Amino acid sequence: MAVEETLARVPLFSAVKSKELKKLGKRMQERSFGEGEVITTQGETGLGFFVIEDGNASVSRNDQVVRNLGPGDFFGEVALIDEGPRSATVVATTDLRCRGMTAWEFRPFVEEHPEVAWALLKTLVGRLREAESALNLSA
Ligand code: CMP
Repeated sequence: MAVEETLARVPLFSAVKSKELKKLGKRMQERSFGEGEVITTQGETGLGFFVIEDGNASVSRNDQVVRNLGPGDFFGEVALIDEGPRSATVVATTDLRCRGMTAWEFRPFVEEHPEVAWALLKTLVGRLREAESALNLSA
């Protein structure tokens, strides 16, 4: 399958026009990880943003799995946005094929595509709401 077809199925890119998806496909490198491989480590710095093409990964914070990711999901945006440490550890739970871009490619891409910025905001706000309601429960 052509890269842009895979990217068209990624909800984050759903509003990106097909010509732009083609360009994006050229900018995103294929990255593969073996089952069990650690891709990001909570607290450490990192330079990659990834979209999953095939396979699954787990997201853990403080050794607890908070989310499982699969085809069409993305990860690695947090540390690239604020240039801080990784907020979670992401591990490949199967063999995993991703498309990745570096921090210095990610920012210009998001700035050129406000529709992607909006989709990212939605995801981040969703996570904020979850975190806030979890805090209220335990208060
Ligand atoms: P980053 O902090 O760069 O690296 C770890 C990634 O895990 C993070 O970006 C997000 O993409 C992802 N992540 C962190 N917390 C959550 C969560 N609660 N739900 C889903 N994904 C998360």
